[in-house]
Amino acid sequence: GDYDGAYRPQVHFSPPQHFMNDPNGMFRDSNGTWHLYYQYNPSGIVAGNQHWGHATSEDLYHWTNQPIALFPPEDDVFIFSGSAVVDVNNTSGFFPDQDNGVVAIYTLAAYPDGNPGPQTQAIAYSRDGGYTFTPYKENPVIDSTSSQFRDPKVIRHEDEWVMVVAYPHDFAVGIFTSPDLKDWTATSNFSYHGLLGLQYECPNMIRIPYVDEDGEKQDDMWLMAISINPGAPLGGSITEYHPGTFNGTHFEAVDAAARIADFGKDNYAGQWFYGLSEDEYPVSIAWASNWQYTQVVPTGSEGWRSVMSLPRENYLTKTERIGWKLVSRPYELSPIMGRELASNDSFGNGTLTVDYSDVESQALYWEVNVTGIPDSGISATATMNFTFLSPLTGEYINGGYYLGGDTPFFINRGGARGFDNVFFTDKFSTNSLLTNRDSWSFSGVIDRSILEVFIDGGVDSATNTFFTTQPLSLMVLSTADLPGDVEVSLKVHALESAWA
Ligand code: FRU
Repeated sequence: GDYDGAYRPQVHFSPPQHFMNDPNGMFRDSNGTWHLYYQYNPSGIVAGNQHWGHATSEDLYHWTNQPIALFPPEDDVFIFSGSAVVDVNNTSGFFPDQDNGVVAIYTLAAYPDGNPGPQTQAIAYSRDGGYTFTPYKENPVIDSTSSQFRDPKVIRHEDEWVMVVAYPHDFAVGIFTSPDLKDWTATSNFSYHGLLGLQYECPNMIRIPYVDEDGEKQDDMWLMAISINPGAPLGGSITEYHPGTFNGTHFEAVDAAARIADFGKDNYAGQWFYGLSEDEYPVSIAWASNWQYTQVVPTGSEGWRSVMSLPRENYLTKTERIGWKLVSRPYELSPIMGRELASNDSFGNGTLTVDYSDVESQALYWEVNVTGIPDSGISATATMNFTFLSPLTGEYINGGYYLGGDTPFFINRGGARGFDNVFFTDKFSTNSLLTNRDSWSFSGVIDRSILEVFIDGGVDSATNTFFTTQPLSLMVLSTADLPGDVEVSLKVHALESAWA
């Protein structure tokens, strides 16, 4: 793969070439190596002919492309999404002489004569740590005649394996348990919760800490994440989640609310890594695209389509006004953090322009903190904005706070579309933030054709792709109408290419 293209993200994973969608099979092995598999069409730049592509990393930013890990077993049967586990105790019997055997659990999607046929759940085992796999002779392990049964995600819980798997058109997540990854027993269904969309896909159920506003861990909770497509409030694909409890057979949501994982439009089919310990934050990666336009985005001119989100650490917190929120913030960025381009601890009212045309990666990290907002509140016209701009064409992507308004944070990619598509929505905003409070913060990463913004440490976040015809190379940070005692501190860093 050639990672030099103008659209090619430099600190994100994208496939060497051709079309990628969902992250699959993610686990961390006992050497600390992170494995990412992904839905991959190795012969085209639109979806189809699904295999599992594979990449590995020591830090979740520098990835090494590996040979394709799973191949369709025959014509007209594809390898759809799924997960992987490390079978340390050889419960499966595939690994008599080792404690690092890997089992992939995935959907076989049959398309006889091109028409949707049965979707069944299958397994394959790897004795070389996840690089090459042998399909189990007695596949499928869960048979079905339905064309709507897919995306198994397996975790270890107490002495059992637990699978969640989607019955997409029934708006149900099936929960199965197994002693050996081969014999599965259906124990319950979690159904008709939240936004239904047209279908449920890619469920994940994970243990997740609840951390209070002061950063103290309170409890372990469970999270059910479900991807819906189409039917996102902004159109197309999005991930929703339900905090709750799990007793080994049943998941119960804390309440009936629908909660969306991202206020942008490019966050789908997120998956959590297997193999982390209970005192680490769960780590996820999502597909940073949307089925509404993923097959026509302009990166096709460079021979590849789709990028993964940054790796994220996740936990649950509670906000004063709307209760439970899934916090999503970048995983430790230090492996790619580059030189400081600007910083100011007492910015106040003003404008800062950072010309980053000499940053080779063209990727930046920044953070902004606004503190000391008076109890009496702040005018509705007070803003703290960012803009990334191409001086050559005037193309731009911007966003920021209306500090006193009731739509506190917005993002606008309408000046950075680069292609003609009615579903490539321009503007996003979040309303979940409290307006009467004394401090605000946001941070973000921009990386050639993707912008991710994290508000208040990730209590809200937005993943946004964009496609400009010329590189963005000026960053403008600006404030307006702040009272004199408001303090603004900000910092901008270059990011170092993980692909150079
Ligand atoms: C989600 C999805 C999954 C399916 C895969 C096929 O984006 O539709 O349900 O397994 O993509 O590539």
